[in-house]
This record gives sequence, C-alpha cells and structure tokens, in this order.
Amino acid sequence: MTEVIVPEIPPVMPGRFAGRTAVVTGGASGIGRACVDRFAREGARVVVIDRNRAAADEVLAAMHEQKLDVRFQELDLSDEEATRQAAETLARDLGEVHVLVNSAGIVHVGGQQSSPFVENGLKGWDLLVNVNLKAIAILVHGMLPALTKNGASIVNVSSESVFKARSYKWIYDMTKTGLLSVTRSMAAALADNNVRVNAVTPGGTITEMHTNDAADPIARREEMEKLKTPCLLGRLAQPHEIAAAIAFLASDDASYITATTLQVDGGLQKLS
Ligand SMILES: NC(=O)c1ccc[n+]([C@@H]2O[C@H](COP(=O)([O-])OP(=O)(O)OC[C@H]3O[C@@H](n4cnc5c(N)ncnc54)[C@H](O)[C@@H]3O)[C@@H](O)[C@H]2O)c1
Repeated sequence: MTEVIVPEIPPVMPGRFAGRTAVVTGGASGIGRACVDRFAREGARVVVIDRNRAAADEVLAAMHEQKLDVRFQELDLSDEEATRQAAETLARDLGEVHVLVNSAGIVHVGGQQSSPFVENGLKGWDLLVNVNLKAIAILVHGMLPALTKNGASIVNVSSESVFKARSYKWIYDMTKTGLLSVTRSMAAALADNNVRVNAVTPGGTITEMHTNDAADPIARREEMEKLKTPCLLGRLAQPHEIAAAIAFLASDDASYITATTLQVDGGLQKLS
C-alpha cells in the first residue's frame, strides 16, 4: 500500500484580492479559517463571522502578527434576528463586499447522529436548517446592497455527502443538498447584478469538526492524515486544499462560472 502524502500549503497569489473585501462565515476554524488565511494573504480585507470568540481571537492574533487586515463579527447564525441585523450593519459599514464564503456549518446536535427511523431522529432539524441553510439566505439578503454595489462572488460550502445515501446524517445531508438548490436559485436571481454564486462539495477534510471532540486532538489529526480513504487520491483533504478551490471560484479567474458545483473530493468513488 502506498504511503499517504500530506501536501504542503502552496504559495498564495499575492494581490489577487487586493482592494477587495471578503466575509467568511465559520472563519474561526477549519475550512473557513483556511479561507481567511488565503484571502488575507492575497490582499483582501477580511471579516470573520463566527460564534466562537476564543477561536476567532486566535485567528485574528495570527493574522495581525502578519499585519493582515482581518476583523471579527461575533454572531450566532442560528439567531435569525441577530443575523439579519449583523448583515445589514456589515453592509452599511463595509460599503462593498466582493466575496462571501458561507462555511459555517454543524453536523450534529449534542453529538447525536440523526436517522429517519430512530427515536429523536428529528432532533436538530430546525437548528441544522437554520445554521446550514436559512442563515445563508438571511445573510445574503441583508448584505445585498454591499454585494451588488460592484459585483461579487458568493461561495457556499456544501458537502460530498450530497452524492451519498446515508441514514445516519440525514438532516445534515438534506441541508447540504438544499444548499445546492439555493446556490442555483441565488445565482439566477443575482446574475443581473453581476453576482456569481457557486458551491463546493468538499470531501472529508481534516478540521476541528473531526478532531475537537477527541481526547487527544493532535493524535486524532495525525491519525486522520495517515488514513486511506475511498477516493481516487486515497486520503482526506487539508483545509487549505478546499480554500484554494473556494478562492478560485471567488476570483476573477472564475468570471464565467456561476450556478455550478465544484466537487473538491479527491475523486470520490461511489462505492456500491
Ligand atoms: N470537515 C469536513 O470533513 C467537511 C466535509 C464536507 C463539508 N464540510 C462543511 O464545511 C464547512 C466547514 O466545516 P469545518 O470542517 O471547517 O468545520 P469546523 O467545525 O472546523 O468549523 C465550523 C465553524 O463554523 C462555526 N459555526 C458553527 N455554527 C455556527 C453558528 N451557529 N453561528 C456562527 N458560527 C458557527 C464554528 O464556530 C466553527 O468556527 C461546514 O459547512 C461543513 O459542513 C466539512
């Protein structure tokens, strides 16, 4: 069996997002954090939206050490009214938003798996729908004046699980499948305003989502890095590999791409 090779973080493209403003939800951790790092190092002013202040403080400290322009908006996206207000305030304060990455997401509620045919299988329905789906619509709606001012690119983070049939994460999978539909509808609604809307479907990615609950998160991460997985590349993704695809969709290089879904999953094979 060949050894799993963990890819190095590739060089960024300095200046690609110079003069642009990027808002990243879930930017305090995992894929969102990798996006914050990438956009900021490529010249953007970045706003992190997250409910986790402690994790966001760490991200900001790391970014400020490199003299990068990153600020924080604390927000619980499950709170509709707070999300609406924050979106409107951000739009007013920022004036223009050129990139919006919707990466914040939750999988379980209280560590519980969801399944259609077990007791409490509906537990978490509202929360997952609100955070993974509805908050995105509320954010985009509230930020429209800033997103449409000079055109923008919105990237929604879905999941490779939309292509699978799984009983044990059915609510999560439903929200991520719905997000692909929302992506297309938004793309159609906003095309005349020069706003492109796309989605990525990451494969399994080594983030805090998988490691935080482990007794030893570092050991868990190392274990995951060695794992052989059922995709053509045979390994899990690093967050920066998903961020690179998101940055491409957010950039002018993707100027003729909208309403599409980019699979960033190492060539996932659908197992029979
Ligand atoms: N890691 C994977 O294997 C994987 C695979 C496919 C898709 N995804 C998707 O990618 C996205 C990012 O996942 P990740 O692995 O980076 O997760 P993560 O847990 O490392 O980061 C998610 C971030 O979202 C924030 N967040 C969660 N709920 C929030 C709320 N109500 N309000 C504000 N912020 C909130 C968290 O505080 C955290 O900082 C998610 O949408 C996830 O569903 C992840």
